[in-house]
Amino acid sequence: MRSIQQLPDLLINQIAAGEVVERPASVLKELLENAVDAGGRSIEVQLEQGGVRRIRVADDGCGIPPAELPLALARHATSKIASLDDLEHVGTMGFRGEALAAIAGVTRLAITSRARGQSHAWKIEAGRREAQPAALTEGTVVDVADLYYNTPARRKFLKTDATEYAHCDEAFRRIALAHPELAMQLAHNGRVTHRLAAGDASRRVRALMGDDFVEQGREIEADAGPLRLHGMASQPAYSRSSRDAQYFFVNGRFVRDKLISHALREAYADILHGSRHPAFVLFLELDPSAVDVNVHPAKIEVRFRESRAVHQFVLHALRRTLAGSTAAAPPSGLGARPPPPGDALPPSAGDAWSSIRPVTTGQTRLAMDSASRSYFEFAAAAASGDASRPGPALPAVDPTQSPPLGFALAQLHGIYVLAQNAEGLVLVDMHAAHERILYERLKTVLDGSPAVQRLLIPAVFSASAREMATAEAHHETLQSMGFEVAAAGPAELAVRSVPALLARASAGELMHALLEELHDFPASEVVAARRNELLATMACHGAVRANRQLTIPEMNALLRDMEHTERADQCNHGRPTWTRFSLAELDRFFMRGQ
Ligand SMILES: Nc1ncnc2c1ncn2[C@@H]1O[C@H](COP(=O)(O)OP(=O)(O)O)[C@@H](O)[C@H]1O
Ligand SMILES: [Mg+2]
Repeated sequence: MRSIQQLPDLLINQIAAGEVVERPASVLKELLENAVDAGGRSIEVQLEQGGVRRIRVADDGCGIPPAELPLALARHATSKIASLDDLEHVGTMGFRGEALAAIAGVTRLAITSRARGQSHAWKIEAGRREAQPAALTEGTVVDVADLYYNTPARRKFLKTDATEYAHCDEAFRRIALAHPELAMQLAHNGRVTHRLAAGDASRRVRALMGDDFVEQGREIEADAGPLRLHGMASQPAYSRSSRDAQYFFVNGRFVRDKLISHALREAYADILHGSRHPAFVLFLELDPSAVDVNVHPAKIEVRFRESRAVHQFVLHALRRTLAGSTAAAPPSGLGARPPPPGDALPPSAGDAWSSIRPVTTGQTRLAMDSASRSYFEFAAAAASGDASRPGPALPAVDPTQSPPLGFALAQLHGIYVLAQNAEGLVLVDMHAAHERILYERLKTVLDGSPAVQRLLIPAVFSASAREMATAEAHHETLQSMGFEVAAAGPAELAVRSVPALLARASAGELMHALLEELHDFPASEVVAARRNELLATMACHGAVRANRQLTIPEMNALLRDMEHTERADQCNHGRPTWTRFSLAELDRFFMRGQ
């Protein structure tokens, strides 16, 4: 072993660079953060060869006074904090004073800057002590060339230019989403790839996330004392097969936080199929002293002082927004035109399903109740031996009392329910809507307290060896859910009872699907681990099938149930369950009164 000695500065910087400078995108991130902290109005980025050859970031911010230029490149030199107290309230993106030093350790770096009040700019190159006079109108240009030119071993870990560029593009997006007030531009190999004008948040989100996201998204705005969450989150109908469109910012800083991710997953758990991912751009604002940003080298993780409160706040704010299926803003109708002002429902009916109350006056209510019973002919009422009674005819109703989804007119091709409400036409995908309602109700089944329907004649079906084994292994779980299943032969299973909510389902098909869900899970964990899949499978099999003729009272009962079911505007695969066409939209379509 050698004796202990001080490492040379350059080597220290190269070691530190390992944390800060993982690839071109990490350089770009640091330079963009510095440009944001400089407080200008615009930022321009030029990349060459994925950023490996060159990264140049120009801003029109405060600049660096010539006397401080050499310091900017020194380790632990920063203008952003001066004390521990400052660190606890830090409002800037940077604060460690390490990035430029680390970048200078593994690249050829030059800074040209003109601080406010200077008659000209000054330029310093890493490795030189003295700044030289230079030309620049205002702000700062940081030019970084030849990443890892002096550490070839690390250069080998870089991916293709296209991949490195994609990471740079992502770093650029993160900053751009959080700073709509800045005009921003990105160019790669001389070609402009993003040109973003300064503007408001929604315009920036549209530019970077696309029109579809904005049109399908739900706006979120929630306050709880010192916490504020705002931004936009996709409805399940607009889901993605990967997590590529998920942006969460804490005080303007993009973060990946376990706690936040968990809250987001929870909020979507009931409405999004497991293999789909939501898209969102969300901003959490809170007092800087309530969050520690100094826990990760790239500051991509944070620590909240009141982590539980933050988790609950994010979860509930999001859930409320996603559950509040607004009758005023359903999935888009004809040509996805926004309804003109005055076309929306009165605010009382418009803001959330939760604000909708059942019709409560005299005769109408009676009619609704009996209709409900009739509708449950194929569901809950089956258990009370009431299954075959036909629903009564619906009495005429006062149109001013029309509930949000209105009253049924007819069934279209055995698939859609047509209804008329105060503002126009409502179209419901009968299977999807019923599936959604069942999904919510079936939660009692997984709680182990379902009403059970015994089958008069057991449903016997042929089963594979694996299914036989799974049925046996999960016998108790199935029983607690209301299913009585037993072997009826060497390759046959018999179902003797099912949850009453599923009395209408084909017991054999349902059982094949459930056994598939259950098979590679230990019985003790299966309900917790596969909860959503189990519910979805049961709901799908229990829901009314296409081509089943519904009576008008059954259709009305379905509409009422939708009004009383949270998140009823999308089925549990994330497809929409209904849409509407207002009279105004229909008039426009037929060019009436134009
Ligand atoms: N684009 C810029 N405009 C003005 N000042 C800058 C810019 N980039 C860097 N600086 C100055 O250089 C210092 C060091 O930057 P850096 O190494 O990134 O550390 P930090 O951002 O953590 O302070 C900053 O504190 C700031 O004073
Ligand atoms: Mg910095």
